[in-house]
This record gives sequence, structure tokens and C-alpha cells, in this order.
Amino acid sequence: MSAPTLRPVPTPQPDRLRIFDTTLRDGEQAPGFSMNPAEKLEIARLLEAMRVDTIEAGFAAASPGDSEAIRLIASEIRNSTLCSLARATEGDIDAAAKALEPAHRKRLHIFLATSPIHREAKLRMSRREVLQTIERCLKHAAGTFDEIEFSAEDALRTEPDFLVEAMSCAAVNGADVLNVPDTVGYSEPDEIRAVFERLAAHVERPDHVIFSAHCHNDLGLAVSNSLAAVKGGARQVECAINGIGERAGNCSLEEIVMALQVRADIFPAISHVDATKIWSASQRLARVTGSAVAPNKAIVGKNAFAHEAGIHQHGMISDRRTYEIMTPESVGAPGSALVLGKHSGKHALVQRLAKLGYQPDPDKLNQVFKDFKHLADELGEVNDADLVAMMEGFSASG
Ligand code: KIV
Ligand code: ZN
Repeated sequence: MSAPTLRPVPTPQPDRLRIFDTTLRDGEQAPGFSMNPAEKLEIARLLEAMRVDTIEAGFAAASPGDSEAIRLIASEIRNSTLCSLARATEGDIDAAAKALEPAHRKRLHIFLATSPIHREAKLRMSRREVLQTIERCLKHAAGTFDEIEFSAEDALRTEPDFLVEAMSCAAVNGADVLNVPDTVGYSEPDEIRAVFERLAAHVERPDHVIFSAHCHNDLGLAVSNSLAAVKGGARQVECAINGIGERAGNCSLEEIVMALQVRADIFPAISHVDATKIWSASQRLARVTGSAVAPNKAIVGKNAFAHEAGIHQHGMISDRRTYEIMTPESVGAPGSALVLGKHSGKHALVQRLAKLGYQPDPDKLNQVFKDFKHLADELGEVNDADLVAMMEGFSASG
């Protein structure tokens, strides 16, 4: 009997993950990252070009300048939804509506804390009062915006049953997006994934809402937690260029986008962001805010595609995939660099010398290599000018 032919198993299509960028709101809120309206507009243009789904342009009620910045951005940006943050008060909602007036597509982002510590120490509200406030504010906002997002501030330290109740209250009163902020970066991947799975199973009207993750980086887990949230059902992630944001920052846009792209084999969703625009946006933000990107920052740091160790350089010369899991071109970075220093080996030195027009014979090369190592001990990084000087001195001395 012949073996039955197996039909190929169809690969499930990944869902779309919406990217909600908060560089201009949570990012700007961090000390040292304040931007004026013109600077915010410049960053908003880069975010739109990158095809970010939603741009949180600011917090309209925070200051006249922030309201003006939102209005300015809303007058120009056409391809991304524009959003303003608002506390759960009628005044804040009205301020957001006014600032967003010229927007092509407007989203209101209302937040109210739900955790016991915030309810008791900050809001002085009972659970019942929190639910009543959510209902009242959503009713007030109804009909004014294209979309409404509700955030349960400090969701990850909220009693699980009350979080479901608060989110259900938002969903039945018209919220389109239910955001689950790990406001103080307290969670870890297994826990946050379980929270999303529980919300998807128990919140009312789950098919009418998108669940969203907003993770802070206090324990350095913002990106891992956001990815775990995606596995748990989140279909929006809130993030910021260079990971800027309150305290240790937010989930970094470049890291989440590239993690989903590079590991599309394990994640159920993918973003529509044009990743080739990431590097220039990161550089521009650093320039505008005067806050340099750390050299070892994933994806956008100066060393993200730089290789100094001899073994790594040898691997890179043979096949770049030995030490690079994505190409610099895929994020718009200028290219990989084989940096010459005391850890570098002969392969990289020979390659660089050839580029500079030198091809020492094998005997000479041994001496050149020794001189190069001394130079590297002295200078740290040996650049082309140093190499030319070394080679010319070498020729002069025979
Ligand atoms: O971290 C947070 O809780 C926030 C909310 C306003 C979404 O930024
Ligand atoms: Zn935040």
C-alpha cells in the first residue's frame, strides 16, 4: 500500500500588532527629554514615515505648550492616528478634544489608577468610586473621538478580580482599547502573559476591544514583558524610540519591532513599521533631546553592528550571519564595522590594510601585526590614519 500523501499544514498568518508610540508623551515626561512644539512635530513626522499606527503626541491638559504641540502635530499628520493623554476628568477630556480637533483620526487615552496603593494613597477612592469614574468619563467622551483607550494605571499591582471589573466597565462603556500598564516595571514575563490571558478570558466584550501592553523598564524587563504580553494576546504595544520614558523608560520601539521581525517564527503577531527608518529616527531624537544613545544599546547603539574581537571579525569576513542576527541595512544603520583594537586578529588587519593599499608579504606581516598590537595597547582603537602612519614608518625603517 502506498503511503498517504500528507497535505502541507497551512502556516497561520501572524496577526497585526499595532505600534502605539509614546515618545512624545511618556518619553518626553522623563527628566531631560522635554521638547518644544517644533521639535515634537519633527519627531512626529519621522514616526509617521515609519508607519507607526498611533502617535501619542502629548498630554493636552498638562500645559498650554503641550496642547499647542498636539494641535500642531494634529494639523499635519495624516497617516497615523493621533492621541492625547487625559486624566479621568471632564476637564482633561475636553482639553484633549480641543487639541486634537484638526486630527485626521483622533484617539483619547484616559487613565485612572486601579491598584490598592494608588487608590488609597493617591486617589482616595474606593473600588466603587473608581468604577463610577470610569463610567462617567467614558460617557462624557462618547461621540467626540474616533477611538477611546482606557488605561488602568498600575494594572500589574491591581487585584486580579478588580482589574477584570475595571476593564469590563471600560469595555461596556465604549472603550476600544484596554491598556494594561506595568506602571512601575514590576512584572516579569510569565506573570504578565498570564494577566493578558486572564483578561482575554474574563473581560466583557473581548471581541470588541484590543488589549494593549505598556511596560516600564525599572527591572530592565520592558521589552521581554511586552513580548510576553503579545504571546498572551496583546495586539497593541506602547513603546518609545530609544526606550525613553519615566524613570528607566518604556519598552523600546526599535527593540520590540526588531524582536518581532527577527523572531517572527515564535511570535503570533508582526508590526507594519518600516524598520529601515529606525536608525535615523533614533539619531534625530538623540540630537533633539541632547541625550546620546548608549554605545551598547540594542539595535541603535554605535556598537550594535561593530565587531572588535579577532574570532568575531574572522567569522564576519567569512559570513556576516555568524555574528549578526539582522543586517544593519534592515534598521537603516550605516553598516557593520570591524573595529581594530587589541582584540583584533590578522584577518581584519589584512583586510583593512588592503583597503588602504598595503599588501605586506607574509614575513613583513608578522612584524606589522606585532607593531599593530603595540599601537592598539596604546590607543585603544586604531583608525585608518594610525594604520597609514604605522605602515609609512614601517616602510621608512625598512
Ligand atoms: O505608565 C503608565 O501607567 C502610564 C499611563 C498613563 C498609561 O504612562
Ligand atoms: Zn507610562
